[in-house]
Amino acid sequence: MSTILAIESSCDETGVAIVRDGNLLCNIVSTQIEVHQKYGGVMPEIASRLHAENIGVCLKEALQKSGVKLEEVDAFAVTRGPGLIGALHVGLQAAKTLAMLYQKPLIPVHHLAAHIYANEYVAPMVFPLLAVVVSGGNSELVIMRDHLNFEIIGETKDDAVGECYDKVARVLGLPYPGGIPIDRLAATAKPIYSLPNPLHNGNTYDLSYSGLKTHIINLVNMAKMKGESIDVPGMCASFQKVAIGQIIDKSVRAARAYQVKQVVLAGGVSANSYLRSQLPEELKADNIPVIRPPMWCCTDQAAMIAKLAERLYAENIFAPLTLGVDPNWPIDHFRDF
Ligand code: KG4
Repeated sequence: MSTILAIESSCDETGVAIVRDGNLLCNIVSTQIEVHQKYGGVMPEIASRLHAENIGVCLKEALQKSGVKLEEVDAFAVTRGPGLIGALHVGLQAAKTLAMLYQKPLIPVHHLAAHIYANEYVAPMVFPLLAVVVSGGNSELVIMRDHLNFEIIGETKDDAVGECYDKVARVLGLPYPGGIPIDRLAATAKPIYSLPNPLHNGNTYDLSYSGLKTHIINLVNMAKMKGESIDVPGMCASFQKVAIGQIIDKSVRAARAYQVKQVVLAGGVSANSYLRSQLPEELKADNIPVIRPPMWCCTDQAAMIAKLAERLYAENIFAPLTLGVDPNWPIDHFRDF
């Protein structure tokens, strides 16, 4: 039985959530998207400053909404990585201060593992499972044979899929973050452009996005130079088919090869409509269910940090107050800090 307060600040959302005995009491999120939209991407320095401004407000709101007093909290959990270094520091300093002040354990939480555990708000995990972790900063296929057991079987060799969505959106004149407008436009058109599909041959579960991104940037620039126009919805449909198709192909192959009992989607790109509809369809004949996080769990928030923190708390996975952040913390090293 426990009450855990969790903090998230790895990118452009400040979040504070409180869970008590498995029940989510509050999940406060303050998003900075509108500020970063002006720049077409997240500005790390601005993100850190806004986290510093917002963290106290989110904390106060979380306590008010839940009715929990800080003295009643049994442990303070925080995203330690991966993420933007300055942004992570804000959340970590807040959590450390609270842990020190109230003499309670500090729980270091891996952001991507938390995205995977967000699925526990939908269904219990059944092992072995394949986690398809697709976000703005990371893209990897992870096999879990048990709780807190992560094996990366494939990962991007260059850009993350979400980052590629954002860059392609920018060159097509669509707003940041690019995933949502591309996904919407793709649904209105047919794929008409022939685009490179990297790493689609062979046995690798690795992914690659930089070749696809560069190809589209070159196509758009060439069209501009020649005074020709690009069919934006058609390009979105073509891009989405290849970008998400790559994830679907590898996930289906991995799910079969590792004889998993469940596939879970995780990360910002798990909001993608094509991925959410097509992957379950492809695995139907294999009787492998695909668990999709609720839309509010696809974006960054602290409810998922709290969900994983409960499990870490039960295993006494606590960090000393000398803890630092790790912007590149690998998921299979989540116990190393
Ligand atoms: O997990 P997240 O917040 O990023 C990291 O913390 O890394 O995911 C954000 C990413 C952005 O790149 C955004 O464009 C993408 O998720 N995204 C989508 C969709 N919604 C958000 N990508 C494809 N389709 C979507 N519907």
